[in-house]
Amino acid sequence: MGVLIPIGSGKGGVGKTVFTANLGAVLASHGKTVILVDLDLGGANLHTCLGVRNNHPGVGSIVWKKEKRLENLVVPTSVDRLFLVPGDNLLPGTANLEFFTKRRIMKELLELTADYVLVDLGAGASYNVVDFWLMSPDGIVVTAPEIPAILNAYSFLKTAAFRLLFRSFKKGSEQRERIVDFVVNRAEGQGDTFLAFAERLAESDGEAGGAAGLKALDELRRLRPRVVVNQGNGESDAAIAQRLREISSRNLGLGMEYIAYIMRDQSVPASIAGRSPLAVSDPDAMFIRGVKAAADRILRAPEAPAPGLELDDEDLFSMIERAFDEQGSPTL
Ligand SMILES: Nc1ncnc2c1ncn2[C@@H]1O[C@H](COP(=O)(O)OP(=O)(O)O)[C@@H](O)[C@H]1O
Ligand SMILES: [Mg+2]
Repeated sequence: MGVLIPIGSGKGGVGKTVFTANLGAVLASHGKTVILVDLDLGGANLHTCLGVRNNHPGVGSIVWKKEKRLENLVVPTSVDRLFLVPGDNLLPGTANLEFFTKRRIMKELLELTADYVLVDLGAGASYNVVDFWLMSPDGIVVTAPEIPAILNAYSFLKTAAFRLLFRSFKKGSEQRERIVDFVVNRAEGQGDTFLAFAERLAESDGEAGGAAGLKALDELRRLRPRVVVNQGNGESDAAIAQRLREISSRNLGLGMEYIAYIMRDQSVPASIAGRSPLAVSDPDAMFIRGVKAAADRILRAPEAPAPGLELDDEDLFSMIERAFDEQGSPTL
């Protein structure tokens, strides 16, 4: 397994997909093998940025149980060492993955063979998206430097922090109730941060919550989102981006790393129309300068520890799944 980098955003249209495609191309230009996975199950379009035709089976094959292995869906792109697992647009409603499907895809992501696996997630903070994003302690969040986008990015981080802690406690547990109560009733900007609350909860309930609560707390402490500001307009963006760091620190107790600031660049839409990543057609473009900054940070980062796979009812489900796996899953 290589380094898994999930890429999310609070809202659509911020440039997540075009960033993912070009980050992959830049990493590949450094001699790395990169697999891009299109997990935007509502609006899969990563292939359009890569000049790959839309006639290959994609992630939907796993969801529809026609294919078991993600690696069988990997196709080459026009860029050396850059590969794609295409997406599929599931019908609205089915984009809500069932537990086993989500776990299956997660396991498969961890088994892909590449230096980097970049996962383009759907926009927003549904639990489907957030659970994939939480597979790494330092997943990327792409945002535009505008107040509504920044607030959406904040909501995304808040949901992720909440979800990480929440899913570590059992259904119907008192701890879950306390987490919901904290999130619902606490006035933003006052009192404890979410992290401080989580510390009290996990430590005071060490016995009741068991090791799972403490493990979640440890993961929460290690959470260090990487933020990409895209579609920048100039100097005044800094103050807006800073707001995200401030509110996340004050309310959640969460730090973050800004890994790139990317300017608005008219060669981006042109490159999508041209069906070739800008990193290839114009490596000196302003947009690509920003993407390279992110790539440099990623290349310099020490390897992240293996991500956790814990979800609701982990024990029960993994037992069932193991049983299925051992006799060859009848549903796949
Ligand atoms: N830095 C940029 N400058 C100009 N246009 C951009 C930039 N980043 C993205 N875009 C444009 O924004 C639109 C949405 O990009 P996309 O990557 O599909 O967003 P998302 O995946 O977040 O929904 C595309 O038309 C793309 O050309
Ligand atoms: Mg997209």
